[in-house]
Amino acid sequence: MKSDRPNPLARLSLTLSSFFFVVFLYIWFSINEVQFDALRRLGQSTISNFQYNQTVEKSLVQNATSSPPDLRILLGILTLPDQYERRHFLRLIYGTQSTVGAQVDVKFVFCNLTKEDQQVLVALEIMQYNDIIILNCKENMNTGKTYTYFSSLPEIFDDPEGPNPPYHYVMKADDDTYFRLNNLVESLKPLAREDLYYGYVIPCPSMDPFKHYMSGMGYLISWDIVEWIRKSEIPRNHTDGPEDRVFGSWIREGHRAKNRYNAKWSMYDYPIPPTVCTHELWPDTIAVHKLKNKEKWVKTLQYFNVTNELPLSKLYHIP
Ligand SMILES: *[C@@H]1O[C@H](CO)[C@@H](O)[C@H](O)[C@H]1NC(C)=O
Ligand SMILES: *[C@@H]1O[C@H](CO)[C@@H](O)[C@H](O)[C@H]1NC(C)=O
Ligand SMILES: *[C@@H]1O[C@H](CO)[C@@H](O)[C@H](O)[C@H]1NC(C)=O
Ligand SMILES: *[C@@H]1O[C@H](CO)[C@@H](O)[C@H](O)[C@H]1NC(C)=O
Ligand SMILES: *[C@@H]1O[C@H](CO)[C@@H](O)[C@H](O)[C@H]1NC(C)=O
Repeated sequence: MKSDRPNPLARLSLTLSSFFFVVFLYIWFSINEVQFDALRRLGQSTISNFQYNQTVEKSLVQNATSSPPDLRILLGILTLPDQYERRHFLRLIYGTQSTVGAQVDVKFVFCNLTKEDQQVLVALEIMQYNDIIILNCKENMNTGKTYTYFSSLPEIFDDPEGPNPPYHYVMKADDDTYFRLNNLVESLKPLAREDLYYGYVIPCPSMDPFKHYMSGMGYLISWDIVEWIRKSEIPRNHTDGPEDRVFGSWIREGHRAKNRYNAKWSMYDYPIPPTVCTHELWPDTIAVHKLKNKEKWVKTLQYFNVTNELPLSKLYHIP
């Protein structure tokens, strides 16, 4: 028969287990008081770290979104309306490069369209890429396209809402030149933002940027010189002649560009065929010029490992 009183053994074991439970609780609490404390402090510091980090992050985000990049560069590539394939190729070359701490806008620059098909095809390109500037001029060699380019920019980019100046630097580049944008940006970071004339000084053996002028492979000027070109009579009165030499004469006559930078031998002509203007491909490269055929482009792109970033995928296999 079942007794309703628990037997003594069971009572003892209940008492003991209650006792141990209390002891256990006591020990647990006393150990954990330390831990709780630590945890509490940790919690507080985590929260304050979190808050601190939040503020850092917030200001980083703000800096990234509300303040413009430190350096804005317009890279204008002078070309012709019918050069569709060349533009397509250069978009590939520049679209796969990224720059740190700078905005580099690559734009293709030419004069008025002259054919009906251009009005359709170039308009479609603009809808897709918005990277074309059509100047008010008739395509020409040596009758002022360079003047029209630089002198039109202040009006084209005049935007009271936009950053001032719209670009710190403006470049005029050839369509057979390969620029490594990050190296260009790094070379510009320490330089003056005003009164600057930058490039590969001509003649080829010369290292003195205060004599003669910069090669048409690509030269860069600060925005104040762009504005000067727009306003001054010196360039306006003298637009004809070999474009880049004429440009040098404006600078000389106008006593502009007290800051100059000779980027030779980071800028050079492709090594083959060798001349006094060429240099071997080497890591310290900003620009390679005279890439006159596909083979030269491919050798150059291979040398600079431009496809290293290609992600692995089951979609393709490229050795
Ligand atoms: C902010 O978070 C990072 C990890 O994202 C951490 O290494 C750093 O210590 C935190 N900052 C502070 C002040 O605790
Ligand atoms: C954000 O920009 C401001 C002003 O330019 C600067 O003082 C601040 O240190 C920047 N913050 C960060 C996290 O870079
Ligand atoms: C270029 O085109 C514009 C508009 O289509 C025209 O007003 C201008 O006269 C043209 N300029 C030249 C130099 O042909
Ligand atoms: C530019 O040409 C105009 C008209 O021919 C002349 O009056 C002016 O002096 C010239 N300016 C310069 C700086 O050569
Ligand atoms: C390209 O990659 C090769 C192999 O990884 C390396 O040895 C070479 O230095 C790289 N070239 C440049 C220009 O970075």
